[in-house]
Amino acid sequence: MFVTDDIRYIGVNDHQVDLFEGQYDVPNGMAYNSYVILDEKIAVMDTVDIHFKDEWLSNLEKVLEGKTPSYLIVQHMEPDHAGNILNFLKAYPEVTVVGNAKTFTMMEQFFDLPEGMNRLVVKKSGETLCLGKHTLTFVFAPMVHWPEVMVTYDSADKVLFSADGFGKFGANDVEEEWDCEARRYYIGIVGKFGMQVQKLLKEASALDIAAICPLHGPVLKEDLGHYIGLYDTWSSYKPEDKGVVIAYTSVYGNTKAAALLLEEELKARGCEAVSVHDLARMDMAEAVEDAFRYDRLVLATTTYNADIFPFMKEFIHHLTERNYQNRTVGFIENGTWAPQAAKVMKGMLEGSKNLTYLENTVTVKSALKEDTRAAIAAMADELCAK
Ligand code: FEO
Repeated sequence: MFVTDDIRYIGVNDHQVDLFEGQYDVPNGMAYNSYVILDEKIAVMDTVDIHFKDEWLSNLEKVLEGKTPSYLIVQHMEPDHAGNILNFLKAYPEVTVVGNAKTFTMMEQFFDLPEGMNRLVVKKSGETLCLGKHTLTFVFAPMVHWPEVMVTYDSADKVLFSADGFGKFGANDVEEEWDCEARRYYIGIVGKFGMQVQKLLKEASALDIAAICPLHGPVLKEDLGHYIGLYDTWSSYKPEDKGVVIAYTSVYGNTKAAALLLEEELKARGCEAVSVHDLARMDMAEAVEDAFRYDRLVLATTTYNADIFPFMKEFIHHLTERNYQNRTVGFIENGTWAPQAAKVMKGMLEGSKNLTYLENTVTVKSALKEDTRAAIAAMADELCAK
């Protein structure tokens, strides 16, 4: 596939992966992107997952038409991209591998590198490499998503090779909306590192960019302001949309009944959006994504072992480790004796910045009754007044 006249796509689609990075459901598979820049000197931009060695090397061979690459540029050492470095070196032993000091440290940890492997170490962010017509500038992007990550700008074709940035879940041979699976990918995988993404966006804003070539998902060529705008929102931890997320766990259905009643009350009041997640049964990453997407969140769970139900604990942990902030939060707790889930949940969020708590906390004792139904209606009133 042509990205530009000189830049070709040689990536692969993975429909076999059960859990991406060992934890994420990817119902539409995953793409591992790789590119070739054809010039006087030819550069290959990253490899792909080890399971796709033959397909990727064959894609590469077709594009090379008998020529030999000069450089393998390693922007990211995570195995979904770096898995075929040794296989590539076996096929093209004369190539020079380009990375920074951290890249090569990781490469040595992952592999037994061939003796005498040619290396070009990028010492400083902003260093360039001339291929002929194309000059590449390497910009260090530590923690977007690992410390060695660098992105690459080609000034000839105005292409930004963005590593994991602007990637998404889903293979490239499946048609689906970008925003939803890019958001779940971003929040899940890069969400903790908003500050580093902001820094990278600032550097990228000085560049004239005609296309973004990420390591996952489609090449982005149109409406780049839309994608960059979303990245700015996500990485600055601002809510993207108005709406209420209700995340609940329920042992016997009574906390679920409270959550569903709140959903009904919110819809009756014309709330902009209501998104309900059963944390034990639904994809936790979808719930985390929605918690970051919307401006209000209600957590509903039972008191359990003088603590809270395990799936809720895990969920709140996912939020806090990704710097959840700048939102309104309410609590519904359930307990047959000594209910204390609201206190525990609030305690888990105490390090989170700029959270506003609802005045109405609902305490259900075992099952909904007239008073708790009224308390949920009051909570809905408060959420809709915000
Ligand atoms: Fe797509 Fe961080 O690897």
